[in-house]
Amino acid sequence: MRLRRKPHAKEAVRNHPRVVTEPERCRGKWHSLFGNDGPLYLELGTGKGRFLSRVCQTTPEVNWIGVERVEEVLLQALRKADESECDNLHFLWMDVHQLDEAFAEREVDRIYLHFSDPWPKKRHAKRRLTHSAFLERYKQVLKPGGEIRLKTDNEPFFDFSLEALEEAGYRILESTRDLHHSPYAEGNVTTEYEEKFTAKGIPIHYLRARRPD
Ligand SMILES: C[S@@+](CC[C@H](N)C(=O)[O-])C[C@H]1O[C@@H](n2cnc3c(N)ncnc32)[C@H](O)[C@@H]1O
Repeated sequence: MRLRRKPHAKEAVRNHPRVVTEPERCRGKWHSLFGNDGPLYLELGTGKGRFLSRVCQTTPEVNWIGVERVEEVLLQALRKADESECDNLHFLWMDVHQLDEAFAEREVDRIYLHFSDPWPKKRHAKRRLTHSAFLERYKQVLKPGGEIRLKTDNEPFFDFSLEALEEAGYRILESTRDLHHSPYAEGNVTTEYEEKFTAKGIPIHYLRARRPD
């Protein structure tokens, strides 16, 4: 993602009311922040926030959290979130590595991974958000029966993710290499990257996996 550095972005993000600056204080009690017992869904590597600003409107019963580490990008997601006027959407300005500092064991119902950076070089494999070390972290914070939903344009990353999920004991419930021409297309909410790749005619890979019991 090409970025123009914005000198005031850090401050703007830190002071934005949708950004939870001390997530460890909400750990195990996110429901009090949202003020209800609705399911907790995370989008990891949320980018400019197209997906979240739309789903928060169509699913008011869900408590949504976007996790993004780049402040300039997060700022754009925050603008979109404000336009959507959703009360059920917050953001964490942090790295996915810190997930277990923000969420207690078995606190999260669902994790979305949308067009995660594929890190194609083998020596960077540990940075992929579906590397076994990340899948173990997700296993900890997901509830029994909790799910991961993944979309990507990148076939090698998709193959890597399928294999890593199966090795980590997740059950693949749905999978397709052409989401938009599959039975899973109905109700699909697109992301920024999805729009970009689809406009170029690149098929979208999708999977849904359940946490091991
Ligand atoms: C390729 S973009 C995809 C954005 C969006 N999900 C979409 O589909 O349009 C990946 C995003 O994930 C963020 N990201 C990558 N690794 C991350 C990590 N370890 N922790 C938090 N954010 C991360 C990047 O900063 C970037 O904004």
